[in-house]
Amino acid sequence: MFKDKTVLITGAAVGIGKACALQFAKGGANVILVDYNDEALAKTEAEVKSITGNVLSLVCDVSDNDSVLKVVESSISRFGKIDILVNNAALWRHYTAFVDTDIDTWKKFIDVNIMGTVYFTKAVLGNMKQNHYGRIINVASVAGVYGNPTMAMYSATKGAVISLTKALAKEVAADNITVNAVSPGTVSPAEQDDIDYVEPNANSYSGRTGSTRENADLICFLASDSAAYISGQNVQIDGCRKKI
Ligand SMILES: NC(=O)c1ccc[n+]([C@@H]2O[C@H](COP(=O)([O-])OP(=O)(O)OC[C@H]3O[C@@H](n4cnc5c(N)ncnc54)[C@H](O)[C@@H]3O)[C@@H](O)[C@H]2O)c1
Repeated sequence: MFKDKTVLITGAAVGIGKACALQFAKGGANVILVDYNDEALAKTEAEVKSITGNVLSLVCDVSDNDSVLKVVESSISRFGKIDILVNNAALWRHYTAFVDTDIDTWKKFIDVNIMGTVYFTKAVLGNMKQNHYGRIINVASVAGVYGNPTMAMYSATKGAVISLTKALAKEVAADNITVNAVSPGTVSPAEQDDIDYVEPNANSYSGRTGSTRENADLICFLASDSAAYISGQNVQIDGCRKKI
């Protein structure tokens, strides 16, 4: 499905990002893995290498624009182009009441979740326009749609990612570039190695978590030619969310 296509995935070391790496590799893509957790990244790289030799893994903090520019330069020099960008890296495990959340933490969430997405998108867009082809998939969250209590800054950053998606999609549609967001509900724990792992969960009417493979498969679909006419959308993958 992705023969001759190159995908760059941020936050590729664990969870949804890792499942994406495996699923894109199985689909025949050249895969670029980006993460700041070098140990976990090396482990994932080894797994992807058992599927394809066309893999490049690069350590990078997505909130550092200079580092992002270097990653994109190395990726294009290795594979010649970037066809698909999955902006997946994010901070989210932080639960505090709004009144107790300090400003530095707000800024960190904005730097990683919003600016990391902005940096990578800006860095690849010129190449995509040149090739008159691109698929950008931003991993948002149901928190960005409904707003989660004790997660105001996370919710705000994911809401921003969804509106960025909608605005940018309109600007680049004529360049044959689609831009979509996916908003997971409760996903199986990222530390589970099995991408099909699910467990009971009361947040959805389905009564379970979503596997990382289910999330990755949605992302792969939006990156595929079958989704060429879908752009500017936020697709919720949440097992029919109950708690909002
Ligand atoms: N897990 C869930 O229940 C859930 C629900 C909704 C949305 N999401 C979203 O899905 C995406 C993936 O989440 P997950 O739970 O699968 O994985 P995770 O949050 O456990 O891991 C994300 C990966 O991103 C990397 N990362 C974080 N900050 C980074 C930075 N500054 N630079 C480079 N890499 C960085 C981490 O090292 C990690 O490998 C995130 O965007 C998250 O907000 C997750």
